[in-house]
Amino acid sequence: MIYLDHAATTPTDERVVEAMAKCMRENWRNPSAAYAGAGAARKALRQARQSVAALIGATPQEIRFTSGGTEANNQALLAARGGHAVVSAIEHASVLNAAKALCGAVSLVSPEANGRVCPEAVARALRPDTRLIALQLANNETGVIQPVAEIAALARERRVMLHCDAVQAAGHIPVDVKALGVDLLTLSGHKLYGPRGVGALYIRQGADVPPLIHGGGQELGQRAGTENLPAIAGLGVAADIAMADMAREAARERTLLAAFVGEIARRIPGASLLGEAAPRLPGVVALLMPRLTSEQAIAALDMKGVEVSGGAACASREQAVSHVYRAMGLAEVDAARVIRVSIGRKTTENDLRLAAEIMEEVYRE
Ligand SMILES: Cc1ncc(COP(=O)(O)O)c(C=O)c1O
Repeated sequence: MIYLDHAATTPTDERVVEAMAKCMRENWRNPSAAYAGAGAARKALRQARQSVAALIGATPQEIRFTSGGTEANNQALLAARGGHAVVSAIEHASVLNAAKALCGAVSLVSPEANGRVCPEAVARALRPDTRLIALQLANNETGVIQPVAEIAALARERRVMLHCDAVQAAGHIPVDVKALGVDLLTLSGHKLYGPRGVGALYIRQGADVPPLIHGGGQELGQRAGTENLPAIAGLGVAADIAMADMAREAARERTLLAAFVGEIARRIPGASLLGEAAPRLPGVVALLMPRLTSEQAIAALDMKGVEVSGGAACASREQAVSHVYRAMGLAEVDAARVIRVSIGRKTTENDLRLAAEIMEEVYRE
């Protein structure tokens, strides 16, 4: 199979698997225990926190480990509990649905046709009682990078908190919480070749967010529960690897994907790239395709050995048409025909040449 769905999840890096196994064998003691033997577990936790902090330019004290991106996004939205939040209409379901469930009122801001949210539109949606703006760093269905620093500056001016879901960006492009000026930021292990079921919420020193999970005093009292140390250690190693490799890998993916998009445009008349003029992640593209619905195309491509998706993996089984493509103003019939191709570290030029050939075959048939 040619796996072209890295935005849904990335294969776990072998070094991460090793680090997790070692942690389970050797560091199984509870990091909160008082005896000396638990010191190694505490050290592993500290190390992972440093690695994740370094990946996003935070201090270790600003990192809280969670059970994943979904939990971190839910906790972030608690900062606006009962109040008004301005949320981009193209957020992941874990932001949109948390906002609906937790906030008193939510104003959704649609992006422009190129998939980018316009700072002026966010400014217009702010109210005197707005507590929080939620804007992702990069979209999971188009790869389009959002003007987070600009909107964070606006948020500071209006004394509103800004939460940034950086699940798709962290580990793939440089992320610096201080340069972005965000108060809260989410990342997730399984989108950067780490394990799933672990993520982190950056909480800027001095920012006020209540806990989502109540219990013991772990994670500086902001996330109770005995730490999932093997997963956390795996996330730490994944963060180290991503940092060491980021610039080279991003350049490689960008070149490969540009060539692939060119091939598709040449082989399949009527195919076009969404958000073409906008800054995008190196490894993700959304292609508006002719004739076939994404559901039909995904099934046909799967039979021929190519795995792609038609938008967010978690949504693809529930709803035919993605809220992201709709919010970008695509007609219903077009929104239902988008294919997302997302490549990763193991994707080769040959994989993409073959995938382009197979796609041509499927669309011609
Ligand atoms: C942009 C975005 N935010 C949040 C999530 C949820 O992260 P997790 O799967 O770790 O709960 C995802 C995963 O699909 C995502 O793409």
